[in-house]
Amino acid sequence: MFFSSQLVEAIKADHKKLRAEMNLLKETDIAQLDRQLCFGRFLPLLLSHTQREEKVVYSFMKAQDDENLNFMAYEGQTKHAIVDQLIEDMLSENLTNQEWSASAKVLADIVGQHLDEEENEVFPYLKRHLDSDTDAELFLRYESHYHDSDAFAYDEELVTESPRWS
Ligand SMILES: [Fe+2]
Ligand SMILES: [Fe+2]
Repeated sequence: MFFSSQLVEAIKADHKKLRAEMNLLKETDIAQLDRQLCFGRFLPLLLSHTQREEKVVYSFMKAQDDENLNFMAYEGQTKHAIVDQLIEDMLSENLTNQEWSASAKVLADIVGQHLDEEENEVFPYLKRHLDSDTDAELFLRYESHYHDSDAFAYDEELVTESPRWS
């Protein structure tokens, strides 16, 4: 039976915004300064998304009695951690411009693969565990975490580190 999930549609809408910035981020024909500005827009969107996904979606997946679903949540969380590390390197003052460009491309590639995997494999599988009440509850929690103070504190901690282009 076809089940349209509000939660999955909200996540896909966030993925779409991320893809728009990511495509610019890895385009080396675009001036480095413009890609760095793009990185500045991409970062809060990405961190807000990955944190809300972990707090609401992955924690739900881990709590289900389904090993595949549990594994997918841990796999996603590990990908997020790799991405966080890469971002931390890109925010440091230690990278040359070429190294920064290479890191930006790798970041866009890893995030792109991760979003595709979620949309093509994880979410169709997750939907089997959702009924409309659970979906509505998770959707509200996913959306309301926009205003979660922890998430904002974490965002600011990363975004306010002095950017290398300042
Ligand atoms: Fe994810
Ligand atoms: Fe995601």
